[in-house]
Amino acid sequence: MKPKISVVGAGNVGAQCAFRLAQRNIPEIVLLDLVPGLAAGKALDMSQTGAIDGFASNIIGTTDYQETKNSNVAVITAGLARKPGMSRDDLISKNAAIISDVVQNVIKHSPNIILLIVTNPLDVMTYHALKLSGLPKNRVLGMAPLLDAARMQYFISQMANAHLKEVYAEVMGSHGDLMLPISRLSTVQGKPLTAVLSAEQIKQIEERTTNGGAEIVNLLKTGSAFYAPGSAAAKMAAAIVNDTKEVINSCCYLEGQYGITDVCIGVPAKLGRQGVAEIKELILSDAEIATLRKAAAAVKELCGKL
Ligand code: LAC
Repeated sequence: MKPKISVVGAGNVGAQCAFRLAQRNIPEIVLLDLVPGLAAGKALDMSQTGAIDGFASNIIGTTDYQETKNSNVAVITAGLARKPGMSRDDLISKNAAIISDVVQNVIKHSPNIILLIVTNPLDVMTYHALKLSGLPKNRVLGMAPLLDAARMQYFISQMANAHLKEVYAEVMGSHGDLMLPISRLSTVQGKPLTAVLSAEQIKQIEERTTNGGAEIVNLLKTGSAFYAPGSAAAKMAAAIVNDTKEVINSCCYLEGQYGITDVCIGVPAKLGRQGVAEIKELILSDAEIATLRKAAAAVKELCGKL
C-alpha cells in the first residue's frame, strides 16, 4: 500500500506540514480539521500547486476521520497555539482534552498508526498521547527537538558567518525553558563551537535557542511559528514512512536512557517504519545530564497534573 500520512489540524503548522509532505512526494496525504471547509480549501489550493511545483500527491482535505483510514502516521497539530505572554504550559489542560479526542478518533480508523505529536506543551502532550493510546512506546513521538536544533543551527550560522550546511547543532531536553542546547557537541565546519565563537557569543546562541519560539510569538503577536515547525514534522513523518533510519532528535519515551524513566523528552533517535527504531545515548557531561534530568523531572510533574 502507498504510504499515507494524515495531518490533524489545518492551522498554520498543519497546513505547512501537509504542503511539505507533498513537496516530499508522499503519495497519500489527508489534512483534517473540524472547521468546515478549512482543510478542504487548503488541500485544494495545495493540490493545484502541484501543477506549478511538480508534485502529484493525492491531498484530501476533510472534517471526517473516516478519510484517515489506514494511515501510517498521524501528525497531530490540533490544539491552541501560544499567544504573547503565555507559556507553553498554560496550554496544558485545554490541549490535553483536544489530544484525547484526536487520538481516539485517529486510532479507531488506523490501529497500527504511529503518532507524531506537535501540540504544545510538547513533551507533556507526547506522554499523554502515549498513555491514552495504549500504543507501544516506539509508535508515539514528538516533534520539537529537530525544530530547536534548526533554530540553533541558524543562530550559529549567523554568528559564525557560515553556511547553514556547515553547521551542526545538538539540542536535547524539553521544548521549554529547560531545553538543552549543547554547544560542546555543536560544530562549524567540523570544528567545535567552543573553538570558533567566544563564550559570550555561545551563551547568546543558547539563550536565543531556548527562547526561539517566544521570539517569533512576540513578533507575530497573533500566533506562533509555523514554517519551521511544519517542515520539521514533515521531515520526521517522511523519515518514518520512507524507513530512512535517519537520526533525528525527537521527543521519545525513555526507560532508563540517560538515567531517566517514564517520561517523554528530546533525545537523538533513529526513525524508521516502526517509529522510534533506536534511541541514541550520547556521552554527556555531568552538567548536561543534570539539566536533562531536571527537564525530565519538570515534564513529569506537569504530566502528573493531567
Ligand atoms: C515554537 C512553539 C510552536 O517553538 O512551541 O515555535
